[in-house]
Amino acid sequence: IGGADMPVVISLLNSYSGMAGAAAGFVLHNNVLIISGALVGASGIILTQIMCRAMNRSLTNVLFGAFGATSTAVAGDGVDRPVRTVRPEDAAVMLGYARSVVFVPGYGLAVAQAQHSVKELASLLEKRGVDVKYAIHPVAGRMPGHMNVLLAEADVPYDKLYEMDDINREFERTDVALVIGANDVTNPAARTDPKSPLYGMPILNVDHAKSVIVIKRSMNPGFAGSDNDLYCNKKTAMLFGDAKKMLVAVVGEISKS
Ligand code: TAP
Repeated sequence: IGGADMPVVISLLNSYSGMAGAAAGFVLHNNVLIISGALVGASGIILTQIMCRAMNRSLTNVLFGAFGATSTAVAGDGVDRPVRTVRPEDAAVMLGYARSVVFVPGYGLAVAQAQHSVKELASLLEKRGVDVKYAIHPVAGRMPGHMNVLLAEADVPYDKLYEMDDINREFERTDVALVIGANDVTNPAARTDPKSPLYGMPILNVDHAKSVIVIKRSMNPGFAGSDNDLYCNKKTAMLFGDAKKMLVAVVGEISKS
């Protein structure tokens, strides 16, 4: 078990700990242990099921799907693929003159603690008449609801947050998809490459937007260890750097104009 399956297994084991606690409660005639164990067990099972559904996999497939499979190197196939890089000033022009922008936050947003800078950029764009939305993937980040919590901390209005199925319909009409520290949840290999550890997981179809800007520090893969062809797409511009620093720079450039 590896890559994107690990959180599901952790959640399942967590629920078993609750069930073991409840069973111990019966043996010890301890009602508190029974009730708290049952709550932990039930919530763990529900969470496991939600995560399996988000990845479009059955629990059996998550647990036993890799048996008998030979391990394949998923990242770094040795081929240097060209990518288009941009500077914050170029990204500011693309965003400032767009009609609609969808922010796609991922784990890198949490690492950089860039939620307040994201909100600042959104407010600035909205003042210029740009329609700003946020695309939330159910397993973006490292815990369920990770992105919702971060964005709520920055007072992003809840009605600006769109779940995957709702926002995927919007990407074709979106001028710029701004990917902020997200990787696996945007990887088109999940749709097209049966050898990818992400294959079958529904993703945010950012590659359907008219143009894409990706903020990350390097070409390193995400949690699943898989290369992301989105970065080599002709529509994609890579803005390399720490998410917070890059967003602050973009905000500075837009404020000047
Ligand atoms: P990831 O695929 O993990 O990608 C995060 C990206 O953020 C990395 O490629 C990294 O690239 C970039 N990054 C890291 N620090 C950064 C920084 N300071 N500034 C800018 N970029 C930074 O994240 P994701 O797209 O959110 O997907 C989540 C993954 O985690 C999925 O595979 C999911 O299954 C798994 N997972 C999810 C959960 C739950 S329940 N949410 C729990 C555990 C695991 P650089 O290093 O190049 O910057």
